[in-house]
Amino acid sequence: MKIKLGKTDWYEENIRVSEKATNFHFLITGTSGTGKTIALQEIEKSITNTNGCVVVLNYNSTHQWDNCSPANILYYPVKEEGFPFPLLRPITAQNGQSETPEDVLETVVDAFHAAAILGTAQKRQLYEAMRLTIQNPDYSGETLLTPDALDKADREDFAPVMRRYKGIFHRLRLTPDPLTLMPGKIYDIDFSGFDTLTQLLLAELALSWFWRYAQFHDWKRMHSIFVVCDEFQNLNHGEDSTIAQILREGRKKRLFLLLATQTLADVEQSNQVILNQAGTRLFFRPTEQEIRQIAKLLDSQHVEKMCEILRELQTGECIAKGKLCAGNVTIERGLKMAFTITKQERRSNVCLRVTQKSSK
Ligand SMILES: Nc1ncnc2c1ncn2[C@@H]1O[C@H](COP(=O)(O)OP(=O)(O)OP(=O)(O)O)[C@@H](O)[C@H]1O
Ligand SMILES: [Mg+2]
Repeated sequence: MKIKLGKTDWYEENIRVSEKATNFHFLITGTSGTGKTIALQEIEKSITNTNGCVVVLNYNSTHQWDNCSPANILYYPVKEEGFPFPLLRPITAQNGQSETPEDVLETVVDAFHAAAILGTAQKRQLYEAMRLTIQNPDYSGETLLTPDALDKADREDFAPVMRRYKGIFHRLRLTPDPLTLMPGKIYDIDFSGFDTLTQLLLAELALSWFWRYAQFHDWKRMHSIFVVCDEFQNLNHGEDSTIAQILREGRKKRLFLLLATQTLADVEQSNQVILNQAGTRLFFRPTEQEIRQIAKLLDSQHVEKMCEILRELQTGECIAKGKLCAGNVTIERGLKMAFTITKQERRSNVCLRVTQKSSK
């Protein structure tokens, strides 16, 4: 995969991520307005140019295409089209091996728990309600809970969960077949129209579906899938989270994450270790509070000099760290580079819309 990054002032072409990189996960940090989202979008375009498939989990409008939208973007509004993955259907691998219904229910309950902590009794009730749902002979796979399961689950201790996610228990439609993902495309899965918490839940559910899919799919035939979580700090990124699992093991399954957030200062040390597994890190201008720590990580021998460089980064400029290539030369030290918004795409700003039918 020849994934392009920004440009330096000493080499005429874009710097690339080495094909020998530990993995193709990206972690991007920097204060507000320093150019993280624009850089992500440039990387996304480059990934699709090398035939990867990009899926943007666009919760809470964190990933708007204000400056340009590439021609190969496919817009999928979940509120109107339904959740594009049949969450409660076990995934079957090409060799016939399949998820058990219990595994499926546990994973979905875990995704709910990741979005907002559930008590033990609430978890059990959600599990039981979904079990009743899938055991119903009339279950079409198009809802999370059937009406009879909803009635049974609506007890006192489950009531807060019911209230919080009423909209999705009663109204969210799941599509019977997963969205077909083609190489060379960017899928903008837009969760807008739901409240903030629900959008985060839907993103957790989508992430966990991708992880399930990657494990059961014949990955030797699968093209690489890159899932984008811009401002991922609101998603669960603890040790047992789906994000952590994908960072640790996604490489084997060709599933990668593109993560961006303003700062890691609030992230627990153990979780920082997990996030640091990302093979390529881009540091846009950090907060004063974080500068020294980042400078040490980038160049422990010249901390003061690095602090100065970080402090002076302009919008669109960053220090990249990972296994990078300038032509045939591999570079592993921190490298200052600038992203430019590719010109020819500035003109188009209308997203083509994908529906289940047109994606086939
Ligand atoms: N490489 C670039 N070239 C030119 N302008 C840029 C570049 N990167 C960012 N900008 C300008 O800065 C604005 C903010 O960039 P961007 O949305 O990427 O910031 P951000 O780091 O994602 O901020 P936030 O954390 O608030 O989401 C853009 O709308 C654009 O006008
Ligand atoms: Mg942004």
